[in-house]
Amino acid sequence: MIFGITSFLLIVALNLRLTFGRYLRRLPEEKRKINSENFKGYIHWIVSWKKSFLKLERWDRCLDYLIAWGQKNYPGWTVWVFYALVLSYIYLALSGFIFAWFVPRGLYGFPLLLHVAAGALFAICLTIILFIKARVYLPEKVEEEASKESDYGFYCPLLHKSFPRLYLQAVAFWVFVLAGFLLVASTLGSMLPYFNFPAQIFFFHLHRWSALASVLAACLAIDVMIVE
Ligand code: HEM
Repeated sequence: MIFGITSFLLIVALNLRLTFGRYLRRLPEEKRKINSENFKGYIHWIVSWKKSFLKLERWDRCLDYLIAWGQKNYPGWTVWVFYALVLSYIYLALSGFIFAWFVPRGLYGFPLLLHVAAGALFAICLTIILFIKARVYLPEKVEEEASKESDYGFYCPLLHKSFPRLYLQAVAFWVFVLAGFLLVASTLGSMLPYFNFPAQIFFFHLHRWSALASVLAACLAIDVMIVE
């Protein structure tokens, strides 16, 4: 119950924050304030944006954009690792959270089997992507690149300040990687015969909360890495 409500509220709150920030960034600098006028404008903008997803061509354009983004950022065969990570992750997040939110007995049966299989693929892809991209998001590299960044792409309405997107890209990358390994470790831990029942329960809760951290990092990554 606590996990269900907290995870739902946090995911909605983060996406509201990210999309509101995006809406404010479209406005002239002097108008970027948290006020009722901007909030009304934001609601109007987000509703029309959401409505556009009722049309199939919108999904088509998103898919084309993601494929092109993958090809630009993952050269040669590595793009297939990126696609496999995305597909396995979408199934893992949807199956995990839909069962966690709406099915009292939790994940079971064929969806659980597919979840574990997709989990294995996810773990392999995450490891390969860590080896490919880790050096891009090392602190010294991020500092160096951020100092060259002209477009401070992430606007914080509370601090009235913009931050280099690279900072948030690095945060999203490392939280996603860490949560991914906690997801794998918690599952492997719960499968080993060495742990008693309380430890199994601990692994189950570690898995769920790591899944939440992973999804929040994925939402941030989509906003600061993928969507221009
Ligand atoms: C890395 C590989 C993964 C494996 C092997 C795996 C395996 C499992 C297993 C075996 C369960 C059932 C636990 C039980 O009922 O005792 C489970 C539950 C769950 N998994 Fe995963 N998982 C993985 C990745 C993920 C990812 C990436 C997410 C989400 C982003 C996720 C979200 C969840 C959630 C939310 C539950 C709880 C569902 C419920 O409340 O019953 N898992 N996972």
